[in-house]
Amino acid sequence: MATADGTWSYRDRFGEEFGRTYFRRFGDGVVSSLGLGTYLGDPSDAVDERYEEAITAALENGCNVLDTAINYRHQRSERVVGRALAGADVDREAVLVATKGGFLPFAGERPADPGEYVREEYVDPGVVDREELVRGSHCIAPDFLEDQLDRSLSNLGLETVDLYYVHNPETQLQERSREVVYDRLEAAFARLEERVAAGDLRYYGVATWDAFRVPPDHASYLSLPEVASRARAAAKAAGNTATHLRAIQLPFNVHMADAFTVAAHEGSEGTESTLRFARRAGLNVFTSASIGQGRLAQGLPEAVAERLEGESSVQKAINFARSAPGVTSALVGASSPEHVRENLDACRFDPMGAEAFDRVFE
Ligand SMILES: NC(=O)c1ccc[n+]([C@@H]2O[C@H](COP(=O)([O-])OP(=O)(O)OC[C@H]3O[C@@H](n4cnc5c(N)ncnc54)[C@H](OP(=O)(O)O)[C@@H]3O)[C@@H](O)[C@H]2O)c1
Repeated sequence: MATADGTWSYRDRFGEEFGRTYFRRFGDGVVSSLGLGTYLGDPSDAVDERYEEAITAALENGCNVLDTAINYRHQRSERVVGRALAGADVDREAVLVATKGGFLPFAGERPADPGEYVREEYVDPGVVDREELVRGSHCIAPDFLEDQLDRSLSNLGLETVDLYYVHNPETQLQERSREVVYDRLEAAFARLEERVAAGDLRYYGVATWDAFRVPPDHASYLSLPEVASRARAAAKAAGNTATHLRAIQLPFNVHMADAFTVAAHEGSEGTESTLRFARRAGLNVFTSASIGQGRLAQGLPEAVAERLEGESSVQKAINFARSAPGVTSALVGASSPEHVRENLDACRFDPMGAEAFDRVFE
């Protein structure tokens, strides 16, 4: 498990090499404001090998945030994260390992008949009730998430996951009412609170694609205040003194800045943006698609680019994401060690201050 001592020592080892506020608070420890994502890439041995090298390079050069999910590359990403973590010259206690559960994962490759696989692996053994499945592929029922957490721990070769996300719960809105989805989330959180008490995970979170960046009248909207309130109720039901909901994840980049620009969540001082609400609620924010899933390597709008520090478009895009007030860490997917090095070099620059960040939107 990531610890205060482990992560602060990691900061002592690398902090001097980076700009101001490169390491940021997460719980009683610190994490790098660049995190490594593991979503994209073919489910092949060759890509596994590249990822192992890239993750090792990240860990050994100043990045102590790894983000994965059980369904990424059909469980291969979790397994390669586990291998890299075991082999790299860093302490396990120095690294925040985050994973996610919600999408039914395949095992190593796409099966010839996905429906049959889901039936044999999940429905027939009673891990998933068909009624709980949305689109035949997504489930946030407590028993299913428990099963998935166990599989993730085994894939990662870890005793404790530092941050366990419920993966894209807005998928449930395609077949359920919003109220039912909040109820289901509360039941999921209650089970995760129990697994915190058992030592299997340290904190949990909610990873989203649309839910927290769209306006309230959007079909995929979920209210962050309501989700946070459900987590408090879940902690109480599980007998924990405080909630362990600690983080959210959502896309954020130069072309998808909604978390900063869209006021959609009722806070104590009116309707607030996701970033503002999260900051005041003590939730860490991890950004996904921070370089537009690779597209921002081709360039940024000129008016934005000229205000950002960095020697390439990707470096500038990274500095945009990690400069937004309230962002803890910008996740960038990279299976190439060269990309990892370029991305870490972006962080030798100081991030923009809040006022300079505001001016990008003028
Ligand atoms: N909850 C969700 O719905 C959700 C959705 C998407 C992502 N995520 C998480 O967020 C992480 C980041 O998002 P993402 O991977 O989708 O998108 P991203 O980080 O914006 O982009 C990743 C892509 O950029 C390429 N890249 C990285 N560094 C580069 C560089 N310096 N120059 C040129 N290209 C570069 C990578 O290529 P190489 O692989 O060749 O290095 C990869 O194809 C994911 O890995 C995942 O952990 C969550």
